[in-house]
Amino acid sequence: MFAEQANALENQLRSQRNVFNQPFEEPLRALRDAAQQMRATAEKDAEGLILNPFRAGDPLSDAEGPELFRGRETAVGHIEEILSDATRSASLQLLAPRRAGKTSLLKMLPRLLPDTICVFFDLQAHPVATTGAFWGKLAEQARIQAKLDRRAELPPLPDGPPMEAASRWLEMLDQLPGGRRVLIAIDEFERLQDLFPGSRQEFLQLMGLFRATIQHRRGVRLLVSGSAPFDELDGVWDDHFISARQIKLPFLEREASVGLLSQPAPEFPSGVIPIEVAEEVYRRTGGQPFLLQVFGSLLVGRLNDEKRQVARVDDVQAVEGRAIEWAETYFRDAYRSAPAPAREALARLIQGQTANPTPLARRWLTQRYLLTPDERLSIPLFGAWIEHHALV
Ligand SMILES: Nc1ncnc2c1ncn2[C@@H]1O[C@H](COP(=O)(O)OP(=O)(O)OP(=O)(O)O)[C@@H](O)[C@H]1O
Ligand SMILES: [Mg+2]
Repeated sequence: MFAEQANALENQLRSQRNVFNQPFEEPLRALRDAAQQMRATAEKDAEGLILNPFRAGDPLSDAEGPELFRGRETAVGHIEEILSDATRSASLQLLAPRRAGKTSLLKMLPRLLPDTICVFFDLQAHPVATTGAFWGKLAEQARIQAKLDRRAELPPLPDGPPMEAASRWLEMLDQLPGGRRVLIAIDEFERLQDLFPGSRQEFLQLMGLFRATIQHRRGVRLLVSGSAPFDELDGVWDDHFISARQIKLPFLEREASVGLLSQPAPEFPSGVIPIEVAEEVYRRTGGQPFLLQVFGSLLVGRLNDEKRQVARVDDVQAVEGRAIEWAETYFRDAYRSAPAPAREALARLIQGQTANPTPLARRWLTQRYLLTPDERLSIPLFGAWIEHHALV
């Protein structure tokens, strides 16, 4: 009934699309989505099933499960601090291992930093091959996002040779009315270098402009996000991202992890994943956010399969094999990228010996949050994966 009326209303709006009724499209869509969600919940309830709120895989955002986004107060606090200090030039590097929640944080920034115009630019989604295309896409994305999130008009990229146009555009962004600050976040920045095949010159020009922006445009801050520290990359990053402040994303704390699992969404019935079950998941995963979501999903799935309403600690053990399968790529990438001394330290830990890592191995493991302060394996599930593949 509601769905029919919403459809009729939407058709009416569509047939006379203009500036007056356009503002209604978004709320109407939201209302319809909410109704759909309510219907799904009602249907599940009718069957006695629990609706799965967890999202293991895709990044979270304001539109995709913002209520699942937990922790990160420290990282956001750092970003805020750097943004608000207009007296100093600075850039930001968000540095965290794979699947740690980099993209989710960047996508949540518009909500977390309400005074800043946040521009999210994903090099994976926009594989640009020239500097002209890079600035064209970036300016286009910036305008779309500013309008959507802030109802703000950003200037378009001026005409002219790409680098000059970009330089003028950045100058305009630096002088927005009301002194509004702009944060340009480039996700998967390591790819940037590979985007300009055969033209190192073009890449260096781009980096030169980044450097000038960092130095002179205090109203525009640049953030790059990736999983390799600058000192492991081409020296060009260190040279150009001057005064870069590193923002790290450790795994979620115990409290945030347990909160996520036991109350992932306001409408999730309490007691379905009891605290002691959530704690067991935290113990097996060390609070690694992707793995928490995987376990959450698997636990709800198991309860539904068995037509039960409350998870038990032994359910965690029961779904572990499937969690390992789900996270196969994540574990395989982590293991394959490990240098030999780090693998050896991992093997010792799994066999119950002390890690005794070489300095290189310790650095490698610590940067990926794989060692606890007392040098145990922070993700026991990773150990189970290694054993599963008989790699020790
Ligand atoms: N703050 C958070 N709270 C709860 N879950 C999170 C959080 N951040 C990320 N996740 C979960 O972890 C998973 C990975 O997140 P995301 O894609 O943002 O990580 P990433 O670091 O960008 O990964 P990649 O290196 O593969 O690009 C997502 O499925 C998401 O649900
Ligand atoms: Mg990502």
